[in-house]
Amino acid sequence: MDKNVFKDISYGLYIVSSIDKEKDQDVGCVINTLNQLTSTNPLVAICLNKENYTNEIIKKEKRFVVSILSEEVNPDIIKKFGFSSSKAKDKFAGEKVIDVNGIKTLDDAAICSYIECEVSQIIDVGSHDLFIGKVVSTKKVSSKKPMSYKYYYEVIKGGVSIKAPTYVEDREIKEEIYVCDVCGYVHYGKIPDDFKCPMCGVDASHFKKKE
Ligand SMILES: Cc1cc2nc3c(=O)[nH]c(=O)nc-3n(C[C@H](O)[C@H](O)[C@H](O)COP(=O)(O)O)c2cc1C
Repeated sequence: MDKNVFKDISYGLYIVSSIDKEKDQDVGCVINTLNQLTSTNPLVAICLNKENYTNEIIKKEKRFVVSILSEEVNPDIIKKFGFSSSKAKDKFAGEKVIDVNGIKTLDDAAICSYIECEVSQIIDVGSHDLFIGKVVSTKKVSSKKPMSYKYYYEVIKGGVSIKAPTYVEDREIKEEIYVCDVCGYVHYGKIPDDFKCPMCGVDASHFKKKE
């Protein structure tokens, strides 16, 4: 199977967030797997890795907000939300946020619009869960251009995460692949001893060879 074919699929870039009401903890992560499923009685779908803390909390709270990132978002926000876990830190601390009925999302400097959802179905798809969300509200917050995955990869030169369901080994020549066991960042080729993860900063001992 030529998995490079999947790279011809167009994606956007989003932040999905929720709240653990019991612990009063905000969670959220970067995703590229938002799809609109229907428009009368609108439904959307998002696909979340089972290892992601945001998945655990959305299963519990049964609500989430998914926001469409703009091309003008600070790349450090994508780094934080895409390569570190909400389990260890409050990713929204220090960011300008909008409150959507108790769930935080980023403000108009980072996003174009948001969609508030109630979970109507969860489908186990192996490494990930597919969450079907019933849309309860939407809001356009800026007229900035939505970020596409292509723009993120080619213009911003953003990193690839092995936790994204769309991850494809993208080297013609098969180099060794090492994955950061903390944030999922993928590095191609040998890891020098003094290497530090460009995403989360941990040392070379955290990089495990992908077989
Ligand atoms: C460009 C990009 C796209 C991503 N897409 C997804 C996705 O669609 N689904 C997913 O579960 N994780 C995706 N991730 C990975 C999560 O954002 C990442 O594992 C995050 O650290 C999880 O944080 P959490 O533990 O706070 O939920 C993506 C990461 C990046 C950088």
